[in-house]
Amino acid sequence: MEETFEPQILAFCCKYCAYAAADLAGSMRLNYPANVKIIQVPCTGRVDVIHILKAFESGVDGVFVAGCLEGECHFLKGNLMAKRRVNQAKEILRSVGLEPERCEMFNLSSAMGVRFAEIAREMTQRIKELGPSPLRDKVKPDSLKKFLEYPIAA
Ligand code: FES
Repeated sequence: MEETFEPQILAFCCKYCAYAAADLAGSMRLNYPANVKIIQVPCTGRVDVIHILKAFESGVDGVFVAGCLEGECHFLKGNLMAKRRVNQAKEILRSVGLEPERCEMFNLSSAMGVRFAEIAREMTQRIKELGPSPLRDKVKPDSLKKFLEYPIAA
């Protein structure tokens, strides 16, 4: 594993909870790694398996989906659907030889800024231990930029 490996991690964050928690973490000046890029989604139910796989295909080393606490999704079951899809994505990652631990689902409330910072640190540490995604060197340099322009938040 490279000493200097800095993972690129993508976080799909529900605007009602995880995104607000990330914002709170920022306001509280909590320290968390800059490795995590956040995509705000209206609900984690908007995140499909293909979005997660496309993120990996664009060269990121890890992905997490962060939604409202179970029972508190503003669209009732969006976070439960997301949980199922994250598990499906893990299975697909495993089947193509990528570690399923590169992908995770978290639940938190908008008041959990401290927890958001912890999650960002946990995922960064986890991916550092796993090392770079084997897909990283096989993608075009602007793949992640293009992926980030994809209108998932619409
Ligand atoms: Fe937050 Fe559905 S509204 S996960």
